[in-house]
Amino acid sequence: MTSEKRISSAMSRREFLKMTSGVFCLTMAGPIVNVMEGSMTITLPPLPYAENALEPVISSRTVGFHYGKHHRGYVDNLNKMIAGTELEKMPLEKIMQITAGVPEKSSIFNNAAQTWNHTFYWRSMKPGGGEPPAKLKQKIDAAFGDLSACKKELASAAVGQFGSGWAWLVLDGAKLKVVKTANADNPAVHGMTPLLTVDVWEHAYYLDYQNRRADYVGAVLDKLLDWNVAADRLASAEAK
Ligand SMILES: [Fe+2]
Repeated sequence: MTSEKRISSAMSRREFLKMTSGVFCLTMAGPIVNVMEGSMTITLPPLPYAENALEPVISSRTVGFHYGKHHRGYVDNLNKMIAGTELEKMPLEKIMQITAGVPEKSSIFNNAAQTWNHTFYWRSMKPGGGEPPAKLKQKIDAAFGDLSACKKELASAAVGQFGSGWAWLVLDGAKLKVVKTANADNPAVHGMTPLLTVDVWEHAYYLDYQNRRADYVGAVLDKLLDWNVAADRLASAEAK
């Protein structure tokens, strides 16, 4: 079954646990659990740069709303939902793990995954972007042909995602792939290792680009993606 089909297909809880058993390692150079031991509270990680650092590609106003209202909202909602439950003492990744694919826990999963996805998104970009380091470049060339083809596939996934969602560069087994997910879903709960992501919810770009999602995606891919952090995430996954 392909990654895309895996993502779009409904998984039973047993399938999910089997798939993620031993491989649910989401602390790689990216999304930080950011849970103080024993605090029982999921906290909002600080932005890794100033709110205006991504200009002119993403405005300070967009980052301010996106991080300060949307991302914070997911964190706050999650904390309200898990207060007083068995989930309250768990780290974010664990909450995602045990609520994914469980219909009656979908609201908790959505807020947990959106908390995780956004932290991962902010850390998938840096002012000025850059180029992939040699080892990652070789893997990109092997999987896609070249970096340009990889970006083209990412753009196609990002623009082609119907409605809200995410486009991802992932490590699936030993191979790099591009996948897209809807709403809060992410490849990590499907046994893949995310390396980079682009948020294509309208709140990520509408203030700056209105309906021109392709322009936002193209600018992020060309000017903001942090290929060094992708290489770090890859190295961390391959070391396991
Ligand atoms: Fe978002």
